[in-house]
Amino acid sequence: MATLIRNGTLLTATDRYEADVSIEDGVIRNIGRDLPVAPEDEVIDATGRWVLPGAVDVHTHLDMPFMGTVSADDFFTGTRAAAAGGTTTVVDFAIAPRHGDYEQTLDAWHARAEGKAVIDYGFHMGVTWFGTPEAETGLRRCVARGVTSFKCFMAYKGTLSIDDGEMFGLLALSRDLGATVSVHAENGSIVEALVARHRAAGHTDPVWHARSRPSTLEGEATSRAIVIARQAGAPLYIVHLTCAEALEAVRRARAAGQEVHAETCPQYLMFTDEVYERPDFEGAKWVMSPPIRPAGHPEALWAGLADGTLEVVATDHCPFQFATQKVMGKHDFSLIPNGAPGVGDRMAVLYHYGVKTGRIDVHRWIDTCSTRPARLFGLHPQKGTLAVGSDGDVVVFDPKATFTFGTAWSEHAVDYSLYEGMPGSGAFDVVLSRGQVVWERGTFRGRAGAGRFLHRFPGRTPFPE
Ligand code: URP
Ligand code: ZN
Ligand code: ZN
Repeated sequence: MATLIRNGTLLTATDRYEADVSIEDGVIRNIGRDLPVAPEDEVIDATGRWVLPGAVDVHTHLDMPFMGTVSADDFFTGTRAAAAGGTTTVVDFAIAPRHGDYEQTLDAWHARAEGKAVIDYGFHMGVTWFGTPEAETGLRRCVARGVTSFKCFMAYKGTLSIDDGEMFGLLALSRDLGATVSVHAENGSIVEALVARHRAAGHTDPVWHARSRPSTLEGEATSRAIVIARQAGAPLYIVHLTCAEALEAVRRARAAGQEVHAETCPQYLMFTDEVYERPDFEGAKWVMSPPIRPAGHPEALWAGLADGTLEVVATDHCPFQFATQKVMGKHDFSLIPNGAPGVGDRMAVLYHYGVKTGRIDVHRWIDTCSTRPARLFGLHPQKGTLAVGSDGDVVVFDPKATFTFGTAWSEHAVDYSLYEGMPGSGAFDVVLSRGQVVWERGTFRGRAGAGRFLHRFPGRTPFPE
């Protein structure tokens, strides 16, 4: 039995055309006009609608222990919310405690995901220590087990961050292994000093989180990471880039011929730091690292997205309940768990506020949210596009529908939305993962545990493409 999606307008990162898509055994078998239908086939009529590749979110934190608590979406609720918002692949961060065993960490994340994920998933390994034979062996084993990307932190001093020497060693090893290093670029030492200074001065409100992490510190760390990667002869991927200074550092490096990739997230495009001034501790909803930036930065990011400097939009989905978790920092901004929900919002936010406003075109939307992340993280062409032989991860999207963002719309298991009350458009009418319908017109039709681990293989991304 095949699934046939008929009469839709197919959209990819490069093309737009009318065709049917037939999916068999979880894989796209045929794309063409007037494909034959067998009586036993499941037929989905996409007349008047768009047929998109299932989107790929390469930055999520599901069920993650962090800052004394655990992120609110687990692999079931988080991947269900992703599917409801048109995303059919996530790459989540397994984060080792400092000096923790990398393979054991990977085992722990497999245990978190197995039996729960409703869509396919991969892992990056969060590298919190380096420089010993044990660390190197552990990371080599991770690559052999299909985890071909690492994230290191220049921030979160004392818990997650590594120093420049460790980062240099990690980059050199990754170059040799054909793995990718991504970096959270903020100057952790100065952030720590500013946090201490503001706390000592008696400042407690969420706005002091942002004031402890100015954009200059992200610009400096981004430039430093780029220098370290150049010295190591390794490519570099910058996660959650938020500001004009960091964007300029990426542009300069690219112009000089260095392979540097960069990602931003919808929240940095959509908000300015006025959110931290909201009364009644509301600002805590936007407490994340790096923080939301002052006016001017979002405009720079939209321009960077349009001109290709920013290649990926991911979410950094890391939700904490406002009522019971964010409140841990009610009297001390430095104790507010860092992170916010977004895995289910990303595609709709970028469609309404990017495509419909003319800031990016529809192909750039698909490229940044699906195709490019799949390519950069070794998932393409299995994921991130519509092609014969690709997985049957397909979204039937109604571009004309309208709705209002908020907790009533999104499927996140968290008690707030960054976008509450804001208008949105588009509807993810039918979402298929390897040919199985997981979401249909507001109803979950998937199964916990149906999602498979995506074993990735090392190899260099061609640059420039
Ligand atoms: O605030 C954030 N971003 N929380 C998640 C951890 C990280 O740095 O990505
Ligand atoms: Zn980070
Ligand atoms: Zn993150």
